[in-house]
Amino acid sequence: MEEKILSIRRAAREAVSSDATNLKELDAVRVRFLGKKGELTQLLRGMNQLSAEERPKVGKLVNEARAEIESLIADKTAELKSKELADKLATESIDITLPGRHAHAGRLHPLTLTLNRVKEIFLQMGYTVEDGPEVETDYYNFEALNLPKDHPARDMQDSFYITDDILLRSQTSPVQARTMERHKNNEPIRMIAPGRVYRRDDYDASHSPMFTQVEGLVIDKGITFGDLKGTLEYFLKQMFGEKARMRLRPSFFPFTEPSAEVDVSCVMCGGHGTDCKVCRGSGWLEILGAGSVHPDVLSMSGYDPSVVSGFAFGMGIERIAMLKYGVDDLRLFYDNDVRFLNQF
Ligand code: PHE
Repeated sequence: MEEKILSIRRAAREAVSSDATNLKELDAVRVRFLGKKGELTQLLRGMNQLSAEERPKVGKLVNEARAEIESLIADKTAELKSKELADKLATESIDITLPGRHAHAGRLHPLTLTLNRVKEIFLQMGYTVEDGPEVETDYYNFEALNLPKDHPARDMQDSFYITDDILLRSQTSPVQARTMERHKNNEPIRMIAPGRVYRRDDYDASHSPMFTQVEGLVIDKGITFGDLKGTLEYFLKQMFGEKARMRLRPSFFPFTEPSAEVDVSCVMCGGHGTDCKVCRGSGWLEILGAGSVHPDVLSMSGYDPSVVSGFAFGMGIERIAMLKYGVDDLRLFYDNDVRFLNQF
């Protein structure tokens, strides 16, 4: 019996070390020795034929044999598993020297970049950003801005009418009136309103029937033209750099009084003008219209001009983007040629 057990142990060692080259084969070895019909189990079955003294002795030997075989199989299992993993890693590894497929990232449009910068500058000064419809009523686009029907100044902006009373807005100024109407009791306002506007202009290097404006409106007690000037000067320096200078020229808008056109020193020639194609030798470029809010505009939208005053301005974003990026044809912004757009 002892001899038998020893030979089973030997056979098991041999089988585990050389027969089992993978986990499946190892399992077959386990069944052969430890399974229900395995060699060791068979041996235990025959124990009832042994004498009472022999039984515990043999039982102990069988248990030792079982423990040895189990631990051999456990060790071998661990070994085969790690070998299998290593094989898997070796065969399934990724060749990192293969060049990857290039993913084309999109970019922000230069007008969006410019608009974002304008917004950033005014948001830092505590302005809110307001919105209004592009299809607008004649009332907000003109009448509420002190331009009654048949007012000659309506000719300043040749508009796209849809019906007698509805048009594509020709300016972002209607958002002034809409925002004032939403605020009551002479509440202070500090807002900008970016958006598209439409005019019946020919499409050329400096005109487009659709373009982008940013409106500004500040209303509070004691707001002066000096506040307007300081605000715009700060804005222009933020936008074009510390060297930028500003010039105001008297102008006319029905909704502001007094009104001004605002020029910035030419960003191409630095303002000296000599041989400069961009400012045509003047050293200045016009970029926005502005003024103190007309008292009638305040009262039409529910504000009391004897209590509050304000200023407003409107700028063209295409114009500012052209100056900032040195673009000489406005149509480039709308052609969407990727060779152009990729440069920003
Ligand atoms: N809305 C005017 C325009 O489009 C610009 C402007 C806005 C002027 C606000 C004064 C105040 O020409």
